[in-house]
Amino acid sequence: MGFVLAATGSAIGLGNLWKFPFITWENNGGAFVLVYLMCIAAVGLPIMMAELLIGRSTQKSAVGALKEAVGPAWGLVGLWGVMCGFTLLSYYTVIAGWSLFYFAKTVTWSLSGFPAGLATGDLFGEQAGNGSLQLMLSFGFSIATVGVVYFGVQKGIERIARLFLPVLFVILVLMLISALGMSGSREALGFIFRPNFAELEPTSLLEALGHSFFTLSLGMGAMITYGSYISRGQSIVKASAIIVVLDTLIALIATVIMFSVIFSVAGMADDVSDTGTVGMLFISLPALFYSEVPFGRILGPLFYVLVALAALTSTMSLLEVVASYIIDEHGVGRRKATLMCGGVVFVFTVLAAVSFGAVPFITNLEVGGALGDLLFGGKVGWFSMADHFVSNWMLPTGGLAVTLAAGWFMTRQATESELMDGTEPGWFRYGVWRFFIRFVAPVAVAAIIVAVIFFGVDFS
Ligand code: PFF
Repeated sequence: MGFVLAATGSAIGLGNLWKFPFITWENNGGAFVLVYLMCIAAVGLPIMMAELLIGRSTQKSAVGALKEAVGPAWGLVGLWGVMCGFTLLSYYTVIAGWSLFYFAKTVTWSLSGFPAGLATGDLFGEQAGNGSLQLMLSFGFSIATVGVVYFGVQKGIERIARLFLPVLFVILVLMLISALGMSGSREALGFIFRPNFAELEPTSLLEALGHSFFTLSLGMGAMITYGSYISRGQSIVKASAIIVVLDTLIALIATVIMFSVIFSVAGMADDVSDTGTVGMLFISLPALFYSEVPFGRILGPLFYVLVALAALTSTMSLLEVVASYIIDEHGVGRRKATLMCGGVVFVFTVLAAVSFGAVPFITNLEVGGALGDLLFGGKVGWFSMADHFVSNWMLPTGGLAVTLAAGWFMTRQATESELMDGTEPGWFRYGVWRFFIRFVAPVAVAAIIVAVIFFGVDFS
């Protein structure tokens, strides 16, 4: 139970609350959602099982697990995952910090009223561009993350997941009830669940695929590391199914909530298309809690608690990937390793935190030329460059390596004995999994990489 909640907490994060609603919006809803569900089932679920089984069979974290399960050279793939976790953590913390800022703001507004005529777009820009505020917020969030991982898997990570995930579900359900009471909810449900394939762009499939990695925390060894904490006697298949279903459910609920608000306010749909994801969560919603959302004075602050909790259960898994590598492969004690890793990651968090205007050099940083385009998509600023590199390069390449490892480099017997250990549910067929992990998943993931290199598709 503790493990399943921790892994679910890793999966549920800003990807669900922030990114998924936005890409669903950009890709015109319905048909995209259906394609996304297919990607999750056909690619996400098999790879989730692969990562968990590699972790459990070896009882080691990413690098050691891949070395032992597949071969010494595969340690490099694990190391690539550790680097990915490191990079993602360094900037994820900054967005997480914004939720702290908006929590504080909404508490004030709920108590003393929403200031008339406040331009929330300007407020957002000011807070993001305020270097010392950004450093404080992201430092606060980093301390929380380090504080959890410091106490280890059972006393830290699993305990926090047990405590916070139920809170997160309750807040989300309260928000859903409130959203369904809004005038736009009908239109929102239609937009999300009524497929219209004429609206589907060819790149939507790829975008859905790319996001399924991010949202399920795959491709960087997080689930390998968490898999090493699963006990024998617990089914990897069942655990994977629960994690994947809950993650998907939360993403869909978040989308219903956000779109109900959007469709309830005249002119809002155009605003959202202009300001993008950041706009939805941190520019439009803060004000709407005080004008449109039923019980918004209570739900406003609660919503930002939700974002912060979802982010924390993800950041702790990211730090765990990095720390457990240092602990297992370099023999450093957990407490020392956690503090060390947290400290080094924070150095890079500083760069991300000041890349929204606070330090012009970092805000305008750019790698020109063909290589810059290929690796960073011509993105400007440290934050955007790091995000681009992780989503377009690190996660897909890591994911491809894992599918090849589990499908082609590990023996059939090794994977079969982990998945078919007598605990698997009746519906599970090993042969089906093997087909997906050998053929479907690698082709799908390779398509992402081809799209990035040759067609300039952007998954960040
Ligand atoms: N799954 C997280 C989200 O949807 O926000 C992001 C993430 C966390 C990716 C942890 C990878 C990871 F190891």
